[in-house]
Amino acid sequence: AAMKKYQFDIKMKNVSRLCHAKPIVTVNGMYPGPTIYAREGDRVIVNVTNYAQYNMSIHWHGLKQYRNGWADGPAYITQCPIKTGNSYTYDFNITGQRGTLWWHAHILWLRATVHGAIVIMPPQGTPYPFPQPNQEFNIILGEWWNNDVEEVEKQGNQMGLPPNMSDAHTINGKPGPLFPCWEKYTYAMEVEQGKTYLLRIINAALNDELFFGIAGHNMTVVEIDAVYTKPFSTQSLLIGPGQTTNVLVQANGVPGRYFIAARPFMDVPLSIDNKTATAILQYKGIPNYVIPTLPQLPFPNDTEFALSYNRRLRSLNTLQYPANVPLKVDRNLLYAIGLGMNACPTCINGTRLIASLNNISFVMPQVGLLQAHYFNISGVFKTDFPDKPPTPFNYTGAPLTANLRTSVGTRLSKIAFNSTVELVLQDTNLLTVESHPFHLHGYNFFVVGTGVGNFDPAKDPAKYNLVDPPERNTVGVPTGGWTAIRFRADNPGVWFLHCHLELHTGWGLKTAFVVEDGPGNDLSIFPPPKDLPPC
Ligand code: C2O
Repeated sequence: AAMKKYQFDIKMKNVSRLCHAKPIVTVNGMYPGPTIYAREGDRVIVNVTNYAQYNMSIHWHGLKQYRNGWADGPAYITQCPIKTGNSYTYDFNITGQRGTLWWHAHILWLRATVHGAIVIMPPQGTPYPFPQPNQEFNIILGEWWNNDVEEVEKQGNQMGLPPNMSDAHTINGKPGPLFPCWEKYTYAMEVEQGKTYLLRIINAALNDELFFGIAGHNMTVVEIDAVYTKPFSTQSLLIGPGQTTNVLVQANGVPGRYFIAARPFMDVPLSIDNKTATAILQYKGIPNYVIPTLPQLPFPNDTEFALSYNRRLRSLNTLQYPANVPLKVDRNLLYAIGLGMNACPTCINGTRLIASLNNISFVMPQVGLLQAHYFNISGVFKTDFPDKPPTPFNYTGAPLTANLRTSVGTRLSKIAFNSTVELVLQDTNLLTVESHPFHLHGYNFFVVGTGVGNFDPAKDPAKYNLVDPPERNTVGVPTGGWTAIRFRADNPGVWFLHCHLELHTGWGLKTAFVVEDGPGNDLSIFPPPKDLPPC
């Protein structure tokens, strides 16, 4: 195993898109930021120095950080922010994981521009379980605002309104030819007839699930969230914020130029956002004046596509890459997604929208929860988060008021070490215009079931896939439906669970698990690093 060292300088940079320049927060002046390359088994050390006027914190999305929550990064959950002028070193091992993940700022909405790919190769000498590609490309999907992103965030949080939609979607930071001033800001990928390419696709958008496709070329899905899948071929992908998808693409079309495109599935309530980001797949030797064709993507509200696409995702589940699905459940949790209003003295009308799980809207603490847990600091959080909604109701059909009894608090759920957990995330009749991509830190989980309407504990578990369910770190809870996930709580620490739509996170659609230490010293949380940022 090797040691990979990186220096991340957080600094402002003037960047122009859509004929509009503004200062943005970057890592090393790059947008998107630098790629972390490692192999399974490597130790990665990233020293982050903050030269920007914003507090900073970096999350390594999807890395399990075994016993090592100190390197996980969500601000006020596992650490306090790195203040202007200060540094913090994230030091972690990559064990038992290979594939595509990504890193991003985990404070405010700064991940809009502070993000990049993590490429984890299998150990030296271990091939991929699929045809070896001739070349690999990282494809990061994102969003661009002409306004300052922190202004947009304030509007979303304080007025309790959906924020201004982004002005463009982007592919590797570039919106492409359907937007003004595109000439310098179009990503192009050159391919050679007959060769095979691996695309590592990352959805770094703040608030949009995205469809993705390439004109004239099918894609073979081979991996999601750094877990191999049973390969299947498709014209379009669906990828939620936080998720990654690796696909093989064969350059077997008529040599030419083809558009690669990404656009949203379901969007901010009451608005139609069909802005399509494009990039170009160009065969070697084809001149630039050839006009590309657009791929046919599903319509923005094509829920049928979303359901059937997600049903096709299966873990590879071979001897070498087994799916260790927990078959018995020690702890059953049902979290219902809700929405309410809360007093807000600084807001217009004195109230704002808040989102909730089991009628609790999460309040961010002032001290890192992991520190509070590790050092037994009392008064920072409670561990009385209810396992079920306080009053069960017809989640997907009840009158709106059943969802509105929202309270606020920093309430967590305590989980016994090594217990098996089933969590059913139940959407309700509010916030139903889009599905919620839920992300759990510190773990992968198995998506054992999903359905429309109310989860039925008497009938639905019989239909679970306990053989080869997809294993991932972020899953979409369908509009007006539910998703059941299972995991074994073998990683002690404090682990954030939240909707990866930044707007909803800001409204409080989040909580955290406190997973207790196991017996003995090597099953407990590591001691904190010396340079852990003070609060
Ligand atoms: Cu990718 Cu808690 O986030």
